[in-house]
Amino acid sequence: MQRSSHYVVQPVTVTAGVIRVPGDKSISHRTLMLGGIAEGVTEARGFLESEDCLATMKAMRALGVRIEQTGPQEVRVHGVGLRGLKAAGHALDMGNSGTAMRLMTGLLAGQSFSSELIGDASLMKRPMERAAAPLRLMGATIETTDGRPPVRISGSRGLSGIRYESPVASAQVKSAVLLGGLYASGPTTVIEPAVTRDHTERMLLSFGCRLDTAHSEVRLTPPVRLEACAFDVPGDFSSAAFFMVGGSIGGGRGLTIKGVGVNPTRTGLLDILALMGADLKVVNHRSAGAEPVADIEVRPARLRGIHVPEHLVPLAIDEFPALFVAAACADGETVVTGAEELRVKESDRIAVMAEGLEALGVECEVLPDGIRIQGRPSDAAFSGGEIDSHGDHRIAMSFSVASLRSQAAIRILDVANVATSFPDFPGVARAAGLDVRVGQ
Ligand code: S3P
Repeated sequence: MQRSSHYVVQPVTVTAGVIRVPGDKSISHRTLMLGGIAEGVTEARGFLESEDCLATMKAMRALGVRIEQTGPQEVRVHGVGLRGLKAAGHALDMGNSGTAMRLMTGLLAGQSFSSELIGDASLMKRPMERAAAPLRLMGATIETTDGRPPVRISGSRGLSGIRYESPVASAQVKSAVLLGGLYASGPTTVIEPAVTRDHTERMLLSFGCRLDTAHSEVRLTPPVRLEACAFDVPGDFSSAAFFMVGGSIGGGRGLTIKGVGVNPTRTGLLDILALMGADLKVVNHRSAGAEPVADIEVRPARLRGIHVPEHLVPLAIDEFPALFVAAACADGETVVTGAEELRVKESDRIAVMAEGLEALGVECEVLPDGIRIQGRPSDAAFSGGEIDSHGDHRIAMSFSVASLRSQAAIRILDVANVATSFPDFPGVARAAGLDVRVGQ
């Protein structure tokens, strides 16, 4: 897809069908990183072949890991062992992915060789000190430029374990510290201000590590080795989120989304939509490796505005762009607070969503740490018009779903980055009943 591409999304009124979304992005990144330093061959089915995960794949290959793509969404990672990575000899380009850059900073902090991490224009503006600072406390030598990439990591003579009270509720920070902790001389403990996604912890356990977890505290005992394993990657809850909102605000029979990861540290949107009156059912529970999986059935419902409880914010952190679209279709006002992290995602998601909602005729007020959205609970909450996604994949997909309540077509600019998380979004969206066309 060319970098300048756009979507034209025509108004539709109903959703119907059974869909699947691609594999979980967080789990796919971690599969490559942990599989790469394990002993033996790690096999994963349902792997997400998106630009973000392919950037991690390229980086791990440059560090000496053989990774085979054995079929669609299937990888075999030939682990080189905890001490087997080799210097890449060039800067590692993490593309658009904050997760890749922050987790790789942790993984590389304990290596005996030096590394440099760079990324695209959006990533080069994002804060990296949040991961670098605790790793420095462990003894790593890491340079950022005014807190931003490039991240330069010097070869290390060994790290020490720390007890780190993170000031920010971030799974990326927690994971960077734990990955550094794999190379530490003693245990590493991370205490979070709020619970965040725990995929790293679950996967470390699957690879045979010792972890002790209590509510928002995790302690890693440095392992002698990681043991390769095989698992299925569940569908990405964050990709399913667009269709949970679409199925709620559209008419018709609604949607069933099969095989979605429902790890409770990811499913805050289910709780938020339930508070708004949505009709969502999580059925057919099973597990994929260490992760819970289920099918999600969503039926149209009349939504009402709420003040989103702040404790749900970290559990729904990537779902707010989609949620804002739901809020714009609800009865009354929706208020989100305690969500300042949204300002440092792939775009400033508070400002960019507000700009887009206003372009479609929705009244909203930007708050320092959130937004206030005045819902328009009619069949045509949105006027149609042109949206600039500012290269943010989740903004582009969220406004596509707005076409279920739009009076006219919505043109969404700068959508190429949808491929960072959901390469076939237009195809899956069409299967759900949306009319998304890609233009250059
Ligand atoms: C992620 C953690 C979250 C999330 C990101 C993926 C991860 O970021 O927004 O898309 O895989 O650990 P923060 O931990 O910085 O909130």
